[in-house]
Amino acid sequence: MEIITNVTEYEKLAKEKLPKMVYDYYASGAEDQWTLKENREAFSRILFRPRILIDVSHIDMTTNVLGFNISMPIMIAPSAMQKMAHPEGELATARAAASAGTIMTLSSWSTSSVEEVNSVGPGIRFFQLYVYKDRNIVRQLVKRAEMAGFKAIALTVDTPRLGRREADIKNRFTLPPHLVLKNFEALDLGTMDKTNDSGLASYVAGQVDRTLSWKDVKWLQTITSLPILVKGVVTAEDTRLAIEHGAAGIIVSNHGARQLDYVPATISCLEEVAREAKGRLPVFLDGGVRRGTDVFKALALGASGVFIGRPVLFSLAVDGEAGVRKVLQMLRDELELTMALSGCTSLREITRAHVITDGDRIGRSRL
Ligand code: FNR
Repeated sequence: MEIITNVTEYEKLAKEKLPKMVYDYYASGAEDQWTLKENREAFSRILFRPRILIDVSHIDMTTNVLGFNISMPIMIAPSAMQKMAHPEGELATARAAASAGTIMTLSSWSTSSVEEVNSVGPGIRFFQLYVYKDRNIVRQLVKRAEMAGFKAIALTVDTPRLGRREADIKNRFTLPPHLVLKNFEALDLGTMDKTNDSGLASYVAGQVDRTLSWKDVKWLQTITSLPILVKGVVTAEDTRLAIEHGAAGIIVSNHGARQLDYVPATISCLEEVAREAKGRLPVFLDGGVRRGTDVFKALALGASGVFIGRPVLFSLAVDGEAGVRKVLQMLRDELELTMALSGCTSLREITRAHVITDGDRIGRSRL
């Protein structure tokens, strides 16, 4: 097999390997997929202002997230149903994250339970929460995640309904019959009916609570003492509200462009959110991160770290745990090289002055 030299190459290989229904589910964005493309393209419009003649013989990429020391500011986003990619699914992802010394976020809709993921051994893991209409289910699930050693809740707030992913509608996407949404198995909510639409869209319409609002962020704090990350904030207004409602952190995310199409790229929303946060809580980003240079750009614009989604699924499909390890290693190596070539020896040294954005260019041309 040809040597894989970057994260993006896994997508093509995964496409050759996976059933069309599965590949399409993993790859798709919503509707026109404008935001899907933009999540990548916006990174490519940000350029560097590297500094030179700085001793870069030692580079420290370690960081601290919510009190946990990790090896690098690159973490794993929650993505559903990973056993469609590989028989070991989330268990392989959890092992790869632990061996890379970073955080994995487990989706509510995982095909391995919180207890099974815990059983792979030590590792810092967060649990992503979808709030069901039946709050007893939410209470039980959060308790189980706590018991299984998860360290934070990532509350997804951009999915009162599922975005229109047209490939899933055409494919009548549903969870393959040999798999189950393992956290919900005992509640009889682990399977998806085959419908004339996306099976997942129908499942969401049936189960997920559309009334979810800021008061529920407070409610969540009454049922758990775990810190709560609000995942899906893209504006200063909602940053303010997240702080007011006790969030421990914010994840700037547009759900990998799978929910509302024509929202800006997350990297274009980041600075607005980080400015409003003013360091009162950490701000993270996901969406389109495929290169170490992307990670550097996000940190320069105010992120404390990033999460990756699809690269995990595609590398898992191609090569299981080894594939996910390789993706994390490649991004790590690229970030290290980017720091060296920009004159930064630690994450603290990455500043706003190391990058130039569209906005900066417009500002300058006015001078
Ligand atoms: C997701 N994402 C997601 N988010 C979430 O909060 N709960 C979930 O169950 C899922 N499931 C899911 C499945 C698939 C196939 C994808 C591609 C994405 C969104 C995910 O956490 C993250 O926001 C994006 O994937 C980040 O963008 P990239 O890295 O995929 O471009």
